[in-house]
Amino acid sequence: MVLLKTLAHQILSQKVNVGDIVIDATTGNGNDTLLLARKVGATGRVFGFDIQPKAITATTKRLTSMYNLDGVTLIQACHTLMPSFIPQEYHGRVKAITFNLGYLPGGDPQIITQPLITCQAIQGAITLLAPTGIITILAYQGHEGGSDEISAIAGVMQRLSDQGFLVRQHTSPAPGPILFLLSRESEATAL
Ligand SMILES: C[S@@+](CC[C@H](N)C(=O)[O-])C[C@H]1O[C@@H](n2cnc3c(N)ncnc32)[C@H](O)[C@@H]1O
Repeated sequence: MVLLKTLAHQILSQKVNVGDIVIDATTGNGNDTLLLARKVGATGRVFGFDIQPKAITATTKRLTSMYNLDGVTLIQACHTLMPSFIPQEYHGRVKAITFNLGYLPGGDPQIITQPLITCQAIQGAITLLAPTGIITILAYQGHEGGSDEISAIAGVMQRLSDQGFLVRQHTSPAPGPILFLLSRESEATAL
């Protein structure tokens, strides 16, 4: 069985092309940011958000293998603020936005994504998304508050599905993660 973190990377890898504009909403240790930076290349743009200076530092270090970092912008801020930090010219043009929720591995487990904030950030992310773009959300059941966060996200996903968005969900047995995929495309053309 493919790990859902691996599946999220496979989906992002298929979806994102050289020159695209993408966002990592939770940079953490920078693994997702690195994947995105490699995919978009020197002509693309990557914006990475995290509330912790430690995560921004770790992500900066993780990116040292990149030859050209001109297109990568790391921002220490809450991901609810993404629409105000992303330049207006990119609104509606972002090809992929990835959320990898929970706490920073190796960091303070008390600093953790919060259900209401996460849901607000997802709503903001939609305003940035390109018509053919995708939002991936990896949420964990195994930590305190994880199940509440998943329930809150599932509620948002249901409402978005009712509004015509395409929502898909991959689950793994507890305490494994759940991967939500959100796009505007029809089932036939979406990954
Ligand atoms: C599981 S880690 C992310 C892993 C990361 N994507 C990677 O590849 O290593 C979750 C991160 O979310 C961050 N976070 C928590 N609340 C946040 C918020 N409101 N806005 C942005 N980042 C937040 C934490 O600081 C933590 O670094």
